[in-house]
Amino acid sequence: MSGMDLPNSVSYLCSTYGDAFADVYDDWYQQVTDVDGTTNLITDLSDGLGVLELGVGTGRLALPIARRGIPVSGVDASPEMLKRLAVRDSEKLIDSYLADMSEWLPSGLYKVIFCAYNTFFNLVGQGAQEECLTLIRDRLRPDGFFVVEAFVPSNYSQLPTRGVESRHLSNSAVLNITIREKMSGIIRGQSVELGDDGVVLRPWRIRVRTPDELDQLASDHGLRLVERWQDWYRSPFTSSSDHHISVYASTNP
Ligand SMILES: C[S@@+](CC[C@H](N)C(=O)[O-])C[C@H]1O[C@@H](n2cnc3c(N)ncnc32)[C@H](O)[C@@H]1O
Repeated sequence: MSGMDLPNSVSYLCSTYGDAFADVYDDWYQQVTDVDGTTNLITDLSDGLGVLELGVGTGRLALPIARRGIPVSGVDASPEMLKRLAVRDSEKLIDSYLADMSEWLPSGLYKVIFCAYNTFFNLVGQGAQEECLTLIRDRLRPDGFFVVEAFVPSNYSQLPTRGVESRHLSNSAVLNITIREKMSGIIRGQSVELGDDGVVLRPWRIRVRTPDELDQLASDHGLRLVERWQDWYRSPFTSSSDHHISVYASTNP
């Protein structure tokens, strides 16, 4: 292992990312994507019926949707994230469940199931994205939608295989070290926070997909693309878009 390699350990679990980032999540990521845009579009698509968020985290998106009067459930694999959601959700608006979304989703049928801010890429295990799509298809109402928000990994085979970015916060500096595996589409990262109290390591891992790859996976699991926009305001998706909101419906409603 060279000095910059990150251990490819088997101990990276579905709860690892959430448990590692929960303490800083709301400070670092509250505005990372468009909360109002997400809330408006998901509320619109829901027609007032049940919504399920996959990877609900601390409720950054689920809570504003629930405050519009929409019944919202959320699944997350991280106990630490869900603890913070419970504190934020003092009105007990969200039905939250601790589970790996590639293994289990709550029973019932939903008008909208959504997975925002690249969270679908958090499914890195072999076949995990596929298993999750099967569960989603089984939990969608016949007139329901599965909505995914993700970045477009353009030409990722040509991206550098490793990199370091830094940013400075009020009381610490954070280095984000990434390593891209050449063949698998998996990117492994380590966020290294250097502060007065020492060093905090927060590992993360994603398995990226292009929009075309997502469409193929979805179609292999009974879901067809019905809309693709480049943002939550339904702006047209083009070949230069670096981000997409994709809406799928069941192939056999
Ligand atoms: C990038 S955060 C997004 C949280 C929230 N959706 C938001 O936009 O603020 C990803 C979330 O997905 C959760 N997660 C990762 N893998 C998961 C899995 N296999 N099953 C359920 N949740 C998972 C993490 O614990 C984390 O809370």
